[in-house]
Amino acid sequence: MRTVVITGASRGLGLASATHLYQQGWRVVAAMRSVEAGLQRLRTATGASADDPRLLGVKLDLSDLASIPATAQAIEQAVGAPDAIVHNAGVAAAGAAEETPDDAWQQLFATNVFGPVALTRALLPTMRAAGRGRIVAVSSMGALRGMPVISAYSASKGALERWAEALSQEIAPFGLGVTILVTGTFNTDILTEQTPDYGDHHGAYGALYDGIHSAGKAAVAKASPPEKFALALGRAVVDTRPIVRRTVGADAGALAFMARWVPGRFVHHIVRMAMRIPPQGALRA
Ligand SMILES: NC(=O)c1ccc[n+]([C@@H]2O[C@H](COP(=O)([O-])OP(=O)(O)OC[C@H]3O[C@@H](n4cnc5c(N)ncnc54)[C@H](OP(=O)(O)O)[C@@H]3O)[C@@H](O)[C@H]2O)c1
Repeated sequence: MRTVVITGASRGLGLASATHLYQQGWRVVAAMRSVEAGLQRLRTATGASADDPRLLGVKLDLSDLASIPATAQAIEQAVGAPDAIVHNAGVAAAGAAEETPDDAWQQLFATNVFGPVALTRALLPTMRAAGRGRIVAVSSMGALRGMPVISAYSASKGALERWAEALSQEIAPFGLGVTILVTGTFNTDILTEQTPDYGDHHGAYGALYDGIHSAGKAAVAKASPPEKFALALGRAVVDTRPIVRRTVGADAGALAFMARWVPGRFVHHIVRMAMRIPPQGALRA
């Protein structure tokens, strides 16, 4: 039986993915902050019983680095070497770089980068010994370029991707591989008020927020259901190539195509237009 560890399986893309993989016959280790509440939701979604050996919960708080070795130990004790780890859990924040406070930057990097790095480090010895395993990093189209008003998020996902790329070269000789999923817009809590907004909408960047929010609303209205993401993840966990980087969602695909083939300064300009950011010098005092 193949085993997958999915972080942040309590809601959104993680819940849909854990449900899909369970239905595909995987043993799912759902790594979550609130294990009981998360398991309850997963049991409702999958129809699994409370004593189903294919659905397990382990406690994980990515922003508490000191707790990660205990999480890894609990995973290994329960299932040995997992066949796949899906670094799905993540947080976002909105607001201009100048208005996003240090503790928000720290929270984002802890959850989106340092936690996944530490969890992987803790599980790698057993996975290397097993000689197989896939590490999936859930990134974002918001990291294809530095994106305005989500700079901390964009930077953290960019860092996650560069780490995953480097890691893939190091672990390929041991039979392990990495997939990076550059994810588009899916209908989850991350698109709602659950994501903190540090912007002062009546302050210096007010005009930017106005434009970006109306452009953002249109994108959110077209968000895909999380189940679509789960199908792509289902394909990602069985890939065997040393490194795969692929987009999930038509919007991510279109932006990735543009970022690859259109010169950087034009991409910058197109993003500015799409987000309705005032032109250079327009807000000069
Ligand atoms: N939805 C999109 O449009 C979209 C687009 C691009 C990329 N992504 C990425 O997809 C991933 C999943 O996001 P989502 O859309 O499903 O968002 P979501 O519905 O807000 O779910 C976020 C998940 O992360 C977990 N989490 C947050 N902080 C954590 C921590 N410190 N330790 C452990 N778990 C933590 C949450 O657990 P709790 O229930 O305990 O809060 C929740 O399960 C994220 O990495 C996100 O950046 C999403």
